[in-house]
Amino acid sequence: MTLILGLEGTAWNLSVALVSEESVLSEAESTYKPKYGGIHPREAAQHHAAELKDVVSRALRSAKEEEEEFSLASIDAIAFSQGPGMGPCLRTVATAARALSISLKIPLIGVNHCIAHIEVGRWQCGAKDPVVLYVSGANSQVLAYRSGRYRVLGETLDIGIGNALDKFARYLGLSHPGGPKIEDLASKGTDYIYMPYIVKGMDLSFSGLTTAAKDAIDAQPDKKEDVCYSFQETAFAMLTEVTERAMGHLCKDEMLLAGGVGANSRLQQMLQTMCEDRGGRFYVPENRYLKDNSAMIAYLGLLMLKSGNTTPLDKSQVKSNYRPDDAEVTWRN
Ligand code: ATP
Ligand code: FE2
Repeated sequence: MTLILGLEGTAWNLSVALVSEESVLSEAESTYKPKYGGIHPREAAQHHAAELKDVVSRALRSAKEEEEEFSLASIDAIAFSQGPGMGPCLRTVATAARALSISLKIPLIGVNHCIAHIEVGRWQCGAKDPVVLYVSGANSQVLAYRSGRYRVLGETLDIGIGNALDKFARYLGLSHPGGPKIEDLASKGTDYIYMPYIVKGMDLSFSGLTTAAKDAIDAQPDKKEDVCYSFQETAFAMLTEVTERAMGHLCKDEMLLAGGVGANSRLQQMLQTMCEDRGGRFYVPENRYLKDNSAMIAYLGLLMLKSGNTTPLDKSQVKSNYRPDDAEVTWRN
């Protein structure tokens, strides 16, 4: 059995997990919650630095409770999120990962966070070769695997859908994260208000939608529910359209949803309908594997270790703009 300790801390969630081929042995986390406004990268990094020791200890302790024979010597490698993410947060977690790798004398593995979202979904759902819709705060991409890389087939040209929802939620005076609160309000909306639908080829744009939603609230402050409903219907239809086109172009019949925004039930419903209509299969993992988590980092670390893909210390610098198509996929053929 191979056992990997994974560290995640690209943004506001600090998380540590122990994962083997069979299961997630343990996972512990600590979430930075901004007092007001959005995530401040330096404050989030300070949170991670202060909490790291405790979160690592909790993950180790619950591994021991789960499996009597577990000890530090059972760990085969240390995996960490090398990017993309907020520079100060990434550097804090990478420093801890290097220290653990050096002191335990085991390999270090720098993981691409986006690909970790994909691989944990494939693992948990049993999808083989899906078109992936990866939707989170900072990212919105449609991807598929071909010839040693996850290729980005379409993506946002400005902000991620999660950030678009969070920004609008903040305008409504709601606290971070805004996505679930918008989902709540949207479920009570009934009338569609016009919103700009921006798909350019395979790419998407969401910042105009946020502006339009703010304008709609200024014009009709009592129509919160309808504006949230219209925002969601428009943004999710855009995402569904591009995902469907990717499935059509590539003749693939599996579709996997990944990333924190994937928890949205209206988005899941639209994608499910699209997949059913074309005779395809729709896969979505449990919420704990959609949002940022360290089990996914440890799991991708495991795939990388087994395919001989480790990261020497002098190549372990963080990459805040690390694109999924920049990472070589050594564990699929
Ligand atoms: P990444 O580094 O991959 O961009 P992230 O830091 O944005 O990840 P995630 O946990 O993947 O973290 O996603 C967080 C986003 O998901 C936030 O923007 C949040 O508002 C959004 N979100 C969470 N639940 C829902 C929901 N039910 N509906 C819509 N958005 C949601
Ligand atoms: Fe993420």
